[in-house]
Amino acid sequence: MRKKLVVGNWKLHGSLLNNQSLINQLKQDLHGLNWVDAAVCLPYVYLFQAQQLLQDSPIAWGAQNVSQFTEGAYTSCISAKMVAEFGCTYTIVGHSERRALKLESNQIASKRLLHALHAGLTPIFCVGETLDERDGGMAEMIVKNQMLNVVYGLDDEAFALAKKFNMVIAYEPVWAIGTGEHATPEQAQRMHAFIRYMVSERDPEFAQQVRILYGGSMSPANAQSLLSMPDIDGGLIGRAALVAEDFVEICRIAE
Ligand code: G3P
Repeated sequence: MRKKLVVGNWKLHGSLLNNQSLINQLKQDLHGLNWVDAAVCLPYVYLFQAQQLLQDSPIAWGAQNVSQFTEGAYTSCISAKMVAEFGCTYTIVGHSERRALKLESNQIASKRLLHALHAGLTPIFCVGETLDERDGGMAEMIVKNQMLNVVYGLDDEAFALAKKFNMVIAYEPVWAIGTGEHATPEQAQRMHAFIRYMVSERDPEFAQQVRILYGGSMSPANAQSLLSMPDIDGGLIGRAALVAEDFVEICRIAE
C-alpha cells in the first residue's frame, strides 16, 4: 500500500507575508495527519523562509525546477545542489508550463532529473499530453516519450538513486491544468496504470513503490473520485494549494 502524497505547486505566487500566513495555517490544520505526506513547492526566493517555518513540521518543501547545469557561467540558473542547501526534499522537474514555454525538452528534463538525484533530492517528474495530442489519439505515445527519460534515460547508478529517494512521477494532462477541467478518474487511472507499466519494464519492484500523482484542477470536489483510483497515489495541486482550507481538505481526503 503506497502512502498518499499531496504536493502544492505554488507556481509564480507568494510573498513573505502571505507565505507565513498560509504555511502557519497548513501547519496547524495538517497537524496529526498520519497516512498522507504533504509538501509545498515554492519559488526559489522563498525556500529559506520555508526552511525556517517548516523545519520542525511534517510538511516537506521543495523547488519547482533545478538547472540542467551544475555550476558555471549560467546567469539566473539555480542548481540542484543550491536547492538542496535549503533543506528541500523535493523538486519538480519537467513541468508542462515550462515545456509549453519551450524552456524544456525531454533531453533537458533528463539532465535536470539527473542533477536532482545526484543532489539527494526527490524529483517529481512531470509528464502529460496537450488536448490536441489527446484528441489525435497520441496521449500515450507522448507520455511514453517523456517517460523514456525515466525508464531508460537513467543509468543504473541514477536509477538506484531514483529508488533510494523515492522519485515521484506526476501525470498532468496539460488541458486540465488551471482550467477547472480535470481528467475523469477513468482517464487518469488508465494513464497512471500505463506509466506504472512503463516503470515495471525497467524495475517491477520500483513500479509498485513509485508514487504517481495526478495534477490538473484537482480540488476538494473531485479529489475523492480521483484518489480512489488504484494507481493514483496523490495530487500535484496548483490553484487549490493557495487556499489553506482547500489544500488541507484534499490532504484529509487522501489520508
Ligand atoms: O503542478 C500542478 C499544477 O500544474 C496543477 O495546477 O491549478 O490545475 O491545480 P491546477
